[in-house]
Parts: sequence; structure tokens; C-alpha cells
Amino acid sequence: MTPLMAMAHQLYKDNQEFVFYYKASTRAGAGFVSELEAMPWSSKIHFHFSDENRLNIADVLGDFRGGDQLYTCGPPAFMDAVFTTAKAQGWDDACLHREYFTVPDDIEYENHVFHLKLEQSGVELEVPAERSAADVLAEAGFQVETKCSDGLCGTCVAEYSQGEVEHRDYVLSNEQRQNKLTLCCSRAREAQGRLTINL
Ligand code: FES
Repeated sequence: MTPLMAMAHQLYKDNQEFVFYYKASTRAGAGFVSELEAMPWSSKIHFHFSDENRLNIADVLGDFRGGDQLYTCGPPAFMDAVFTTAKAQGWDDACLHREYFTVPDDIEYENHVFHLKLEQSGVELEVPAERSAADVLAEAGFQVETKCSDGLCGTCVAEYSQGEVEHRDYVLSNEQRQNKLTLCCSRAREAQGRLTINL
């Protein structure tokens, strides 16, 4: 909820259109209800409590219109249901975004050494198995901003032009992954692989 509240604040400040749907089992057990009701953008909020006014995802999503962006936050099964419904209604994959509080503990990755080639400077760097690309770049004097360091926030996203990436983030869409990666956690897919990034 809190990442979406921050987004709503910003959208309201920027005078942008948005609608905010909040689903919970019961009003009594739901967090932030009184805070949300006190927001200057409270008229944009639709509360759905399962024991009062159950949320029908298909009804609230509607057909995709160019420029729409859909952000969802909640248990993985809920977010899956939102995205499955959205895709069935024609939403573009690049417009669907999940917000996580913590890293989902589902995948065990094995780290290998890989190599970075920096397109603009021609510099080549080796990324040891126990370091991230962001760490190695920072050590070499290249400024890489990071925040979560877990592939959640997108702060460290960079463009790449060559190489096979093992994307370990939770923020990029499949379309974005064609030419972007998160430097805090994503790596070359193969040991000794080489990624050319736009730095
Ligand atoms: S620092 Fe958050 S995704 Fe990399």
C-alpha cells in the first residue's frame, strides 16, 4: 500500500489523472483506511472490503487505453490475478507494474563471474561472483545510484546493447528487459558472459 500512496501523492501534486482501488477482507482489519480517507485525493479512492463490497477485478480494470499504466501491490496471487485479467482485457505488458515490499523468496540463483563492457568509454570490468555490477562500477569510479539493491525499485536501471542477461529484478517488464537491466542484481546469464552497457 505505501508505495502506491506515495505515487498517488505525486500524481495528485502533478495534477495527473488516476484512480486508486484498495481491497481488503474487512474494513476493521485494513490498514491506513483513516489516513486514506483524510488524503486530499480521497475522492479518487475506491474501497473494496470483501464483507461489504467485494472487488471484481475485471469490472474495475476496463479496457486498456493508450497511456494507461497499472500498478498493483499485494500478495503474489492477487497481483497475478490482476495481471491475468488485465492482459485478457488487452493491457499491454509494458504498462503492468508490480510493487513489492520485500524480495519474493522463490528463486535460488547461482552467481558466476562475468564481464562488463562500457560502450561509451570502452572500459572493460570483471564482476566477481560475490559482487554486483553496481558495486564494481562504483569502485571503478562510475556513478551508479542504488536504493533497494534487491531489484525492487528500478533506481539502478541501465541500458545494454549486447549480451544475454539473467534478469533478477521485480520491476522491469518483459519489453523493458529487451534493452534494460538492473545493475544491483542482474548478471550475465552464462559464466564469463559479457554484457555491453550504455555507460
Ligand atoms: S537499486 Fe533498486 S532495483 Fe537496483
